[in-house]
Amino acid sequence: MQILKAIRERFRDVLQKLLDDPAMVESSLERIVASRDPSLADYQANIAMPLQKVLGKPPLQIAQGVVDNLELSDICESVSVAGAGYINLRLSPGWLSEQLEQAYRDGRLAVTLVDAPKTYIIDYSSPNVAKPMHVGHIRSTVIGDAIAKVLRFLGHKVITDNHLGDWGTQFGMIIYGYKNFCDKEAYKTHPVAELSRLYRKVQSISGYQEAVAQTPKLEQAIEFAKRRVEQLQAKLAAAPADKKIAKELAAAERGVVSSEEELQSNHEKIAQSQKDALLVAESTAHPAIYEKVLAQTAALHRGDLENLKLWNEFLPNCREEIDIIYHRLNVEFDHWYGESFYHDMLGAVVENLFAKNLAVQSDGAVCVFLDGFDAPMIVQKQDGAYLYATTDVATAMFRDREFSPDVSLYVVDHRQGEHFKKLFAVLNKIGLGHTDFRHISFGTVMGTDGKPFKTRSGSTVGLESMLDEAVARAMEVVCNPDRLTGVGIQMEDQEKLHIAETVGLGAIKYADLAHNRTSDYVFDMDKMVRLDGNTSAYIQYSFARIRSILRKAEEKGMEQSKWQVAELRLSEASELALALHLVRFEEMLHQSMQDYTPNLITEYLYELAKHFSSFYDQCSVLNAPSQDEAFSRLKLSSIVAQNLKIGLELLGIGVVERM
Ligand code: ARG
Repeated sequence: MQILKAIRERFRDVLQKLLDDPAMVESSLERIVASRDPSLADYQANIAMPLQKVLGKPPLQIAQGVVDNLELSDICESVSVAGAGYINLRLSPGWLSEQLEQAYRDGRLAVTLVDAPKTYIIDYSSPNVAKPMHVGHIRSTVIGDAIAKVLRFLGHKVITDNHLGDWGTQFGMIIYGYKNFCDKEAYKTHPVAELSRLYRKVQSISGYQEAVAQTPKLEQAIEFAKRRVEQLQAKLAAAPADKKIAKELAAAERGVVSSEEELQSNHEKIAQSQKDALLVAESTAHPAIYEKVLAQTAALHRGDLENLKLWNEFLPNCREEIDIIYHRLNVEFDHWYGESFYHDMLGAVVENLFAKNLAVQSDGAVCVFLDGFDAPMIVQKQDGAYLYATTDVATAMFRDREFSPDVSLYVVDHRQGEHFKKLFAVLNKIGLGHTDFRHISFGTVMGTDGKPFKTRSGSTVGLESMLDEAVARAMEVVCNPDRLTGVGIQMEDQEKLHIAETVGLGAIKYADLAHNRTSDYVFDMDKMVRLDGNTSAYIQYSFARIRSILRKAEEKGMEQSKWQVAELRLSEASELALALHLVRFEEMLHQSMQDYTPNLITEYLYELAKHFSSFYDQCSVLNAPSQDEAFSRLKLSSIVAQNLKIGLELLGIGVVERM
């Protein structure tokens, strides 16, 4: 049950009689919220003040009038007017325990399925294969997977699609690498490793050549910028009071500094590459390698038999490498329609855009110009090649035919924001406006050094070892012998390993989810595996602790069969606070899907664990004053455990029976 929704419905009945304007009813309802001060109220309605003018009455009188007509006695213990006209609502303990009884009996905590399920398509993870997967892909994978799980749990139809980048320049790179640098023996024994090596080799030669080519351009840019600074200085000397010129000058000076910095780092990159004699020699032997790579890619797209054969041979190897990560993270997709799948549809996409008078030829390329954007969306290059955007238009059209989604989510990092804005504008124009397209953007994962986080070798192997490291840290923190002796737990290595895996991988997922997705976050392994604070280990520990309490109860003769039929009695403040938090679960899940922010779920779970902890501090469970109270508290604890478990599961995180 969504409490706030239920309360608002009751207010709606009263407000509709009071106000003629439906919009005003809605805006008043928005002003009913969960109270920020639990000592005053559980929910608060601040509706009277804004209605003062409309109704021509003092707020206090309006509030009292509303309260007199409100029918909330089943849910609330008290509904009172306070201050200048606030309405304070306190839920009744009886109603709370009734809700919890239902949650206890129901496998899904009595969370109701939505009345009108929608069809969602979620595009997430979607790495470019043949190229090392990076930590940003983990973020997309973890966020996308959590959103998919929550929407399904609420009763929506969810289709997940891993839109693999399996057709781009990175394949030109390994094809070129294979044709020129392949160690055939190594390829035979370890194809995945050899392909990664080839990718990195071609990439570094190309990077080196790019840096060399960049140097004169950067020098020229600095030259220009300096000249502009001089001109502006002269202008300012002639008109010292002109603020606009002073501002322009400051900006131009900053421009010089940043170009100089760029040149400096370019020099460093070149110097670094030149330390590698083999790289320099290979670069001389393969000039303009990037153009050759593009030529290989173009040949593949034209249907060149040799390149197509190589592509077919490489793809399963590339898949194998990323599958290791998915398997480890326990993530599955309904579909794997990669970019290559759409290749044959791209010509028709461009034709369709012409037919709808949306596409135009511009400088030999095919472009769609859009209001509100400086640059057009390019759908075909001068040389006939299609682009990332063209594939995305084809993808949306295919998904529309195949799945008719109501909502289409793209969980992709924030740097692609502009791409998606343009894409959605085009999709609206071609008649797909019935779907709600959303870019679920997320920030960059930063290292503790303040720079974008890189795994040690920058490769997928690096990602895997990152997961291993999290597991090793979890082992240290949770299963170190001193701690286990301290908490009086003895266990075999097998169980330790299972716990470390569950806690370690959970830590990485939880940290990704707990940060507001739109902000950058610092990847700090030490912080994420801590047993205290807003971490998965803390939540998992709370779960294990309750399970241990329930086992102890059983040893003392208080088996589940006895307490499960007992009546819930909520009297202590900490008990009521815990109960109130529990019954807000469903409301919170809906809120978290309003803007697709799983961090509301981690916050909820963290608060739940803390509420449980204060309840357990303040109310004896195993040694409660009476058997009735002990039974009631055991039942309440088991609901908390169930909620922690379901909550973590929705985030793709497991629990353990003890830790
Ligand atoms: N392959 C892209 C990348 O790694 C992400 C694709 C996201 N999905 C999409 N339909 N554009 O950056």
